[in-house]
Amino acid sequence: MIAGCGQGTPDPGLGCPQTVIMQGRPPSVATGSCHGVVTTASKRHRRVTDVANLVIRHHVHDSRLRTALVGADWTAAAGYTSVDAAPILGEPLPTLDGAPGDLTLVVVDHATSSDEADALTSRVLALGRELPVLLVGPTLDVLPDLVDAAGVTPGSWTPRHEIRLRAQPGVDPRRLDDLLVSDRLLVPDKSSDDVRVLVTANLGFRDHPVATWNATAGIGTLLLGSDPAVWSQRDLLRLVRHLGLAAAGQADAADMRVGMIGYGAIGHEHALAVQAVPGLALAAVSDLNPARVETARGVAADVAGYSDSVDLLGDASVDLVVVSTPPNSHAAWAHRALAAGKHVVLEKPMALTAAECDDVLAHAADVDRTVVVYQNRRFDPDYLVMRRLVSDGAVGELFHVESFVGGYGHPCNYWHSDAAISGGAIFDWGSHYIDQLLDLMPGDIASVTAANHKRRWHDVTNADHSRVTIHFDDGREAYFIHSDLAAAAKPKWWALGTDGAIRGDWRNERVVGRSAIGTMTEDALAPADSPAAMSLHHGDGSITALAVPAAPTHAFHRELADHLLRGLPMMIQAAQSRRVVAVMEAAERSASTGSVPVPLP
Ligand SMILES: NC(=O)c1ccc[n+]([C@@H]2O[C@H](COP(=O)([O-])OP(=O)(O)OC[C@H]3O[C@@H](n4cnc5c(N)ncnc54)[C@H](O)[C@@H]3O)[C@@H](O)[C@H]2O)c1
Repeated sequence: MIAGCGQGTPDPGLGCPQTVIMQGRPPSVATGSCHGVVTTASKRHRRVTDVANLVIRHHVHDSRLRTALVGADWTAAAGYTSVDAAPILGEPLPTLDGAPGDLTLVVVDHATSSDEADALTSRVLALGRELPVLLVGPTLDVLPDLVDAAGVTPGSWTPRHEIRLRAQPGVDPRRLDDLLVSDRLLVPDKSSDDVRVLVTANLGFRDHPVATWNATAGIGTLLLGSDPAVWSQRDLLRLVRHLGLAAAGQADAADMRVGMIGYGAIGHEHALAVQAVPGLALAAVSDLNPARVETARGVAADVAGYSDSVDLLGDASVDLVVVSTPPNSHAAWAHRALAAGKHVVLEKPMALTAAECDDVLAHAADVDRTVVVYQNRRFDPDYLVMRRLVSDGAVGELFHVESFVGGYGHPCNYWHSDAAISGGAIFDWGSHYIDQLLDLMPGDIASVTAANHKRRWHDVTNADHSRVTIHFDDGREAYFIHSDLAAAAKPKWWALGTDGAIRGDWRNERVVGRSAIGTMTEDALAPADSPAAMSLHHGDGSITALAVPAAPTHAFHRELADHLLRGLPMMIQAAQSRRVVAVMEAAERSASTGSVPVPLP
């Protein structure tokens, strides 16, 4: 198996010849404080929705529901810049200017008398004169006059079941996968003509409204939300933000026009995602190799092609640049793109040193442009299972995690195996695995130790086997091993918590098919190309095998467009990628100085 050149199935047209190490014309941009001036290109894409306030008004006996709603991750998940939660009665009305996306969420699960119901109703109507109001969960039972004002005639509740939500066109335009919610649903008997249906669900082969908006009254409904668990669903919180934007009449501005610098194996993956995600459009490609520009034309026939990336950066129609050249050029291209006024997606690793990352982050802040790194392995379906288990507390406190990738075999004969270009073996795969480890184990890092072994594959310069240990301040530890000398593989993950453990076992899968004449063909998948088999190990010795769902569709690019066009936050932040680089830099320093502990730069 080739372990050092994985991270995506190579495009057969690219090959991996040693002679094709292409760094191209080195971008001669000064880094550091020489940040240049933003040109016109992206000014038409102002982020109009950077500020959005959420007001939660509740009158709820069920403390689980109140805690779930108020304590939901509204800022990290949905990007609300302020969340103001308070009882409905006895609080002053909020004074906000009403930014696009602002919303008042109202939840009521009881009214002890008709007087109280009247007081709650008139209070919510007053709230509705300030900001759009969304009635959720049991409110729809308790305050029928409000539901009536929302233009909805309540029907009956379904039992709790899996509801498949479908946003209507323009409401959540990048929802490529269905949003599934387990809850009961109020199926309305009817809704008045001036009510806009924002989200539907199919029940008994008929589409029914799930979210509505009545612009005249300024009141909408979300006809579910009684089960506290739904408020921990990141996608549902994001949907609420989209509902707020729809209520404010906000639609996406023009598509973000994407330029690609470097169109190799991963560049092609970006191009396919860009074309598949509404709101992004492939506009320009530059590559030193004209054949790669032609390959891009197979994805978007009218894409502008450049042989010099400087010319692409001068293309004023490009808003966003994806840099997928080899790693030693990432920082320099980031500076050039930012100076040209573009938002920037960097391939991993963000750069080869933390200082380079700091300069890029400072430059992006100076020119008010987004920089983000394609940490796509954060959306790997097995990793998502792992992350959910850890955040649900399934194994208690995680204190020791080991991750492993590799096998026994000659590393690829390509720049990925050239330490001067790739940053070394730790950088090539570590950009993904260390990112996952840091995401799983937050907290301050005391030091990093590491070892690199160069024992067999002397024709390439990356280490044959690398081990990185992250020592946290409180004694927790995380290990990453990459090996091209591991004839026996370790599990992908071995994660110990105070209450149990999680294993992710590499799978050895074969793809079986038929040749043109009907004989069987068989192709071995590299273990890194299959999701791991996940299991949860309990303290009593029992083991639960865990299903690994399908990978979400183009999750990174969807979040990117939601962020740039609507102000929603991304799960991936460039500061996290900077931390990953800092760990890898410290690891290389430790490995080259006898595995001494090295603090983060
Ligand atoms: N996120 C992932 O899963 C993943 C997977 C593979 C690679 N990567 C990363 O993506 C980047 C590219 O890797 P790859 O495997 O696609 O490499 P690749 O060699 O297949 O592609 C790089 C392309 O960049 C072009 N190029 C080089 N210098 C250029 C320049 N100055 N201007 C224009 N084009 C130039 C080359 O001609 C080549 O086509 C690396 O940073 C790598 O670490 C990430």
